[in-house]
Formats: sequence, C-alpha cells, structure tokens
Amino acid sequence: MKKTALIIIDMQNDFVLPTAPQTIARAEIIVPNIQKVLASFRSQELPVFHVYREYRADGSDIENTRLNTFLTEQKYCVPHTKGCEIIDELRPIEGEYKIVKNRFSGFMQTELDFILRRLSVEKIVVCGIQYPNCIRATIFDGVALGYDVTLITDATEAQTEEIAKANILDIKNIGVECLTTEVFLTAQNETNKWNPNSYNKHTAFVSQLALPVVDLLNPKQGEKILDVGCGEGTLAVEIERRGAKVIGVDMSAEMIEQCEAKGIEAYVGSVTDLSYEEAFDAVFSNATLHWVKDAQNAVHNIAKALKPHGRFACEFGAKGNVHSVVSAMEKVFEKHPEFGAFENPWYFPSMEEYRTLLESEGFSIEYIEIIPRPTPMDDIVNWLDIFANGVTKHLSKKQFETFKEECRAILKESIYSEDEGWLLDYKRLRVRAVKI
Ligand code: BEZ
Repeated sequence: MKKTALIIIDMQNDFVLPTAPQTIARAEIIVPNIQKVLASFRSQELPVFHVYREYRADGSDIENTRLNTFLTEQKYCVPHTKGCEIIDELRPIEGEYKIVKNRFSGFMQTELDFILRRLSVEKIVVCGIQYPNCIRATIFDGVALGYDVTLITDATEAQTEEIAKANILDIKNIGVECLTTEVFLTAQNETNKWNPNSYNKHTAFVSQLALPVVDLLNPKQGEKILDVGCGEGTLAVEIERRGAKVIGVDMSAEMIEQCEAKGIEAYVGSVTDLSYEEAFDAVFSNATLHWVKDAQNAVHNIAKALKPHGRFACEFGAKGNVHSVVSAMEKVFEKHPEFGAFENPWYFPSMEEYRTLLESEGFSIEYIEIIPRPTPMDDIVNWLDIFANGVTKHLSKKQFETFKEECRAILKESIYSEDEGWLLDYKRLRVRAVKI
C-alpha cells in the first residue's frame, strides 16, 4: 500500500464562516466530511497537511486577479488575524504540517513537495476549498509531480453545485480518483484492507468455484464488461481471455493494485456509487453483493450501467449462507456483553426477495437458483481472520483472539469432522438477468 498523506486546503475562517469577507458559499457543508477523513488519517497516524493562505496587508504577495479588490475592499488572510486561522473544527494538532501558500497551488513555491518526499509519501488525498482554483491547481501539480491523487468529492466545495460538478468531471477526466467520503473511508477501513496474499492463500476457492458464473455470463469477443467486486482480478483475467474487455471496481485499494498488475483496468469504488450510464454489454459479480446492504441501490446502479438488453450475471451468498458461522458469532457476542451488539454485515436474500428486487429495477430474470455448496476450509480461524473484520473491527486484539477461539470451539461441533475437516455451509444465489 502506498504511503498516503491528507491535504486539506484553505479551510480558514475568512473563507468558511458565513460572515467572512470571502465566504465560499458551500464551504460550511463539507466540514463534517473533512472531519471524518481527518479522524481516519489521525487514527492511522498518517501525515496531515493543512495548506492555507496568507497575504501581506500591503498586497505585495497576492495574485494579480485579486489585488484590486484586496486593496480597495476588505482584506483577508492577513497573518495573525482570526480570519487567517484554520477553522476550530479542523484545528491542526501537534505533528501535523501547516503550509502557507500565496498562489492557488499548494505546491507552488512551498515546502509541500519537499516534505512529502522526505516522508516517502506517494499518494495524496485532497479536500477543502475551492474547486476551480486551489483544489484544481494543487491536484494538477500533484499529478505532474508524480503523486497518485485522490479527490474526496463531498469533502471539497465551490461557490455553487454546478461549479463543483463541472470540476469533478474535469478532474476525473485527467485520471484522478474521485471518491465520496463514505467510499474512501470504507476502502481505508480494516474491512477492506484485505491482504491479497493472505486472501489468495486461504480463499483461492472463491475464484476457482466461480467459473460456472463466468460461463453463465458467457462473455463474447469485443464486449465491454463491468466486474463489480473484481478482487485481485482472477476472474477478470478469465473474462478477458474469452475476448471481452473488463473494467473492474473494488473497495480495496490493495486488490485494485493486484488487479492492475494483471493488466486489468480497475478502480477503487463501490457499486452503490457507480456513475456509469449505458456503458456496458454485461455486468459480472462474484462473492461481492452480500457485502452491500443497500441492495436496491446496487441493483439500480447496475441496471443504469448496462446498455439496453445488457446482461447481469452474479453469484453471492443466499439466505442461510454460512448460517453456522453467523449463529456462532451471535452466541459469542451474547456471552460477551462487553463486545457490544452483534451487527450482521451481510445481505443474504432469498430467491424470491432478489427476484422481486431485480424486477423492480427493470430486469427480466433468465435464470435464478440457490446452490448449497459446502466448501472445504483449511481452518475456520483463517476464514474469520479474513472475513470477520466487519463484525469485529471495534474489538481489541485480545477480544478478537477470544472471539475467534470461542467461535472455533462452537463450530468444531457443527462444521468439522475428522474425515472431512472443516466444511463451511456456503449457499450461493446464482442469477442471470437481462435489462429490459
Ligand atoms: C461468501 O462468500 O459467502 C461470504 C464471504 C465472506 C463472508 C460471508 C460470506
């Protein structure tokens, strides 16, 4: 994973407060999202840069375009004034960098690039105000200087929504990753920090057993296919081998890196946040949609991404999937009130439920089946290590060890035998539908 730094731009009283001399109309609404992103960087002890403006009161260091109004109307961002300070909600803490800039770009004649390089940062995450000048200039310079750049679209603003939208489109078009706060944080979250090596070692079956779903998709020469939850790309490679072009999306940056290394075009993103419209001949998804609680939104976006008569082939957990594990987890949570309430992170629908959902979004079902698929495991603890994060991320290390040990003891009674070893009670919902 590339070392990542957060860059928050110009969130100063003189730009954010409603009565400030240079209020950016929509600056206030992004404060909660910036706080969330900032909290995440702080909790991971990743570098944070507060890049902000200072102008001498005589205007000698301000841009030409602003000089006249600065001198004749109200001055702003003058050092040692309250207006120049970063807003209280985002006040820098010890160890965070404050970088003064006099131009739009955070990189222009500042120490930002030097410090990032000294810290071995390769990727920057940008948010703040405002889109058309400082955000844009900093992002373009960041790209030019060789950084991977991510823009947090709803932690960044402009004077109007229209300006924001136009800039996001431009920034996307230069190849910069544009993510909402929710998608960015989920991707950063432990749940999605799957180590592809350990994932491959213990879960190679996930892709191996999904070849019938690729057959169901029936990819054809020259087709463009979206792989939702492409993981490390094994199935995307198989689909391309059959002649189609695949674009993968996945919430895990590590998985996307592996996927790209296999030559697949892929992006960090969530199916609930797709913006594709009539762009694909088919959508494929394996072992992913049970992670998406907002199934209606997922199916809606998949339908939107498909061309008319496009196909959707998927497989994921059906009602009753890994029932033994879910009930073991519930029991362990019940026994340990200090663990808090058990929250099931999975969506395992019945056949009827999913059929109704697909039809409500304009699909005609060609095939739908529930397939019980008892699946051998090396040890259930390895499965819990990889997949139980969504349930246990708030537990301490010690609590997590207790959780695994006690789940294993319960499950040994139900899904383990001397002859067969661990046999997990997977139940798949396999579907092929067509957009009407
Ligand atoms: C599944 O593939 O069915 C699955 C994987 C992880 C957690 C729950 C279910």
